Amino acid sequence: MRNYLFSVAPMMDCTDKHDRYFLRLIAPDVLLYTEMITAQALIYGDKNKLLAFNETEHPVALQLGGSDPVMLSECAKMGEAFGYDEINLNVGCPSPRVSAGRFGACLMREPKLVADCVAAMQSDVSIPVTVKCRIGVDDQDSYENLHAFIQCIAETGCQTFIIHARKAWLSGLSPKQNREVPPLRYEVVKQVKKDFPQLKIVLNGGIKTIADIEAHLPDVDGMMIGRAAYTNPYFLAEIQRNYFNNKDVLTRPEVVDQLILYISYQLKNGVKLNNITRHILGLFQGQWGAASWRRYISQHAHHQSAGVEVIERALQLTGLQTL
Ligand SMILES: Cc1cc2nc3c(=O)[nH]c(=O)nc-3n(C[C@H](O)[C@H](O)[C@H](O)COP(=O)(O)O)c2cc1C
Repeated sequence: MRNYLFSVAPMMDCTDKHDRYFLRLIAPDVLLYTEMITAQALIYGDKNKLLAFNETEHPVALQLGGSDPVMLSECAKMGEAFGYDEINLNVGCPSPRVSAGRFGACLMREPKLVADCVAAMQSDVSIPVTVKCRIGVDDQDSYENLHAFIQCIAETGCQTFIIHARKAWLSGLSPKQNREVPPLRYEVVKQVKKDFPQLKIVLNGGIKTIADIEAHLPDVDGMMIGRAAYTNPYFLAEIQRNYFNNKDVLTRPEVVDQLILYISYQLKNGVKLNNITRHILGLFQGQWGAASWRRYISQHAHHQSAGVEVIERALQLTGLQTL
């Protein structure tokens, strides 16, 4: 049960395949999640474009949004056929657009429907189907409600729950505020683990340092890290070193060197430099030269003809080079 102890959270407009390729260079063993893809978009849209990923990204999980069991199971099958390692259902996104479509966090009010969705997906795929949820929504935030929600879904055989340790307010707060304003209540997630020791309970929300991880690890089965992994991606190297006993993680300049090969290939296939470099601005966070790196890339990567020389120059400005 204790594999994939650490993961990078699904984040719209952030964890696309370029970002995941980059993060994988830093952390070979951390589980990566796609951005949420709605069942609607997948069924009616360009499946190849939405689902394609690079083989090096494994282990990688596909996050789906939706509430129609038939559509979701169709999408789960597609995800499995594409080679994803896990299908995750989003029951945590509080965006009004998402709620209007009856998926995301508003589904915490409908455990039976979530259970039907999970059961339908599970019956059609052999990879794990997991659920990412909040600790509550609006006034429905008692521990009894959360317990009943988990119980109902666990009865389908679902074994892994990733729980963002905040409730969500479905009206009145923006998605961003919903990641900051409701207080983090880690003790609630830890209680879930106590009450359901047979389940894999992954804690999410506000984890930024190894000290944070150390504080919670004894009480849960894993951690999912969102914003800290995006703004300070090399934090994942610390996780890799500490928890996967991997002393040979790439240095930052080595990551850049490897990425340049990937970028050269992507540019030849029509990808714009900026579509990749926007994910790597935080690589040198906390290091001398971090500001130069960020500034140089921000100023130059969006130019029409920009190529890998922008990154090479930015790396020179950090004063750090590979041998
Ligand atoms: C820009 C952004 C986009 C997000 N998109 C998603 C999403 O697509 N699906 C989802 O379940 N959560 C999404 N989230 C929430 C994160 O997965 C995570 O639950 C939240 O940021 C709390 O973790 P953190 O404090 O480590 O960032 C998003 C968060 C951010 C910052």
